[in-house]
Amino acid sequence: MFWALILTLCAAFTAGHALNCTGCTAEDWASCNGTVSACGERQKCVSAASELIQALYREKRVTKKVARACVDAGFCNANLSFNFKYASWKIRTTCDGIQAPTVSGEAEPNGLRCVGCIAVPSECTKAVECRGEERMCITVTEKVAGNIMVNKGCATRSACKQGVNISDLLGPVLTGSVSCCEGNLCNGAGTGWHSLLLQLLLLPLVGFLLFA
Ligand SMILES: *[C@@H]1O[C@H](CO)[C@@H](O)[C@H](O)[C@H]1NC(C)=O
Ligand SMILES: *[C@@H]1O[C@H](CO)[C@@H](O)[C@H](O)[C@H]1NC(C)=O
Ligand SMILES: *[C@@H]1O[C@H](CO)[C@@H](O)[C@H](O)[C@H]1NC(C)=O
Ligand SMILES: *[C@@H]1O[C@H](CO)[C@@H](O)[C@H](O)[C@H]1NC(C)=O
Repeated sequence: MFWALILTLCAAFTAGHALNCTGCTAEDWASCNGTVSACGERQKCVSAASELIQALYREKRVTKKVARACVDAGFCNANLSFNFKYASWKIRTTCDGIQAPTVSGEAEPNGLRCVGCIAVPSECTKAVECRGEERMCITVTEKVAGNIMVNKGCATRSACKQGVNISDLLGPVLTGSVSCCEGNLCNGAGTGWHSLLLQLLLLPLVGFLLFA
């Protein structure tokens, strides 16, 4: 069934017709089915497998999700990983149904360190070790109910490049504004009134996030 779909997609592609893509979102590929749509001119039928690992207290929660959709061709064959120390995402994509991607195991530390934190700037003093292709430090800033939240960590170049657009494929993954830099701890906490102000703004959020 899967290969039949691929052959159909290949035929469509080589014939120069609009690419038909069976979009879907599910926990695994076996249950990922959905409706067919024709991809736009600069789009490809991109398949993505993702794994979200959350570490809260001593508990580790793993959430897997796969998706296929017509999205910008720039998403093809990429590893879009980022690690915010307490939550990390691994996303692997392939194009035109050539192969359903799976997320591979944890890569080795690559020597880069970034500030790693979620939501609370006062927590943004700890470092996280970057792994595999994560060669950038990332900062994601978002306004939630009037408060500013910040996530910092390691990211791959492709994750930095796509930023919030990853949502086109997998739903909300990164939201807000995304910036990346190169070099050890280059996404540092920042000093002065600005970060102090952030801390004051964020205190009420801490409880909310930990117990939500
Ligand atoms: C793609 O879908 C459209 C609409 O259903 C159909 O007309 C077209 O023939 C399909 N293309 C291919 C190559 O299957
Ligand atoms: C889609 O997946 C669901 C759950 O696995 C299944 O029950 C359903 O029959 C599938 N639909 C199609 C059209 O394959
Ligand atoms: C993505 O990561 C896998 C596993 O580490 C690797 O084999 C593959 O070449 C990577 N893909 C890209 C486009 O870098
Ligand atoms: C993200 O999506 C927007 C809106 O579709 C687009 O204008 C922008 O070029 C995209 N960014 C990248 C890096 O593809």
